[in-house]
Amino acid sequence: MGRTDSYALFGYPVYHSWSPFIHGLFARQTGQDMMYRLHETPPDQFRRDLLEFFFEQGGCGANITLPHKRAAAEIVNELTPRAQLADAVNTVLRRDGELIGDNTDGVGLVTDLTQNLRLNLTSPRILMLGAGGAARGAIGPLLELKPSTLVIANRTAKRAIELADEFSGRGEVSCAAFDGVEPLEPFDLIINATSASLKGEVPPIHSGAVDRDTACYDMAYGIGETPFTQWARDRGVRNVAQGWGMLVEQAAEAFFVWRGVHPQTPPVLEALHARATYLAAVARTRS
Ligand code: ATR
Repeated sequence: MGRTDSYALFGYPVYHSWSPFIHGLFARQTGQDMMYRLHETPPDQFRRDLLEFFFEQGGCGANITLPHKRAAAEIVNELTPRAQLADAVNTVLRRDGELIGDNTDGVGLVTDLTQNLRLNLTSPRILMLGAGGAARGAIGPLLELKPSTLVIANRTAKRAIELADEFSGRGEVSCAAFDGVEPLEPFDLIINATSASLKGEVPPIHSGAVDRDTACYDMAYGIGETPFTQWARDRGVRNVAQGWGMLVEQAAEAFFVWRGVHPQTPPVLEALHARATYLAAVARTRS
């Protein structure tokens, strides 16, 4: 019998990660013999020799999550074009002894928007909230949708200016401070890529930026509403989503990079929603 192929997620903290569940379902669905483990890795321990050790022990591929995505881009031998554009790595493979860093986050987001949520994104007007790592990874793939405008709004305006400058050669991208977003008409899509939810906050968005037909997408996900999805629902927005689909789609793309097989994502997304609903019910009975 051959050895089960081994994959792992490096991040801190990762004990709460859904990735083993997701990759376990992909493996079962596609008949792949593989396991997926979590490696809790504090920042001072995330180094190149750790990844090398993992691959030398028979590891076949790694995912990298917060807070190591930028550091991972520094320690691999080579970046794929999309990882270079994102300046961050969430997927690593080894080829001829070299570590290759890839990034599947942006394509995961766009696949979720277009295929799972089936948003009509023809020349969309997009507002991106945030200018950190999560926003950066999404901008390149979003510009491939050929938006008529993509405004990056951030609490610290300077970071939005820098990010917009960096991508200005690739499409209609501009920047604003939150209080500077005064649209003539509502956006088609608002993406929350800030970490404001972690503090229970919502970025102060101009009320004219949204109407019922604006799709509101939070890259964050959780049991129940996030502050941003609740904010959107309170404004009567019909198309509201959390980042569960992005999570599954970035994993599916990583699975494809590693295994050459693209799993079907809808049943996995359904299983995830069912599990999240169950956990929400358990949490309610305990409170
Ligand atoms: P990540 O890699 O998750 O994007 P990050 O690089 O630390 O993490 O970026 C966090 C983003 O959330 C930034 O855009 C940050 O705004 P600043 O650049 O002004 O720091 C944004 N953010 C964090 N807390 C916020 C809050 N309470 N309200 C609005 N924006 C917030």
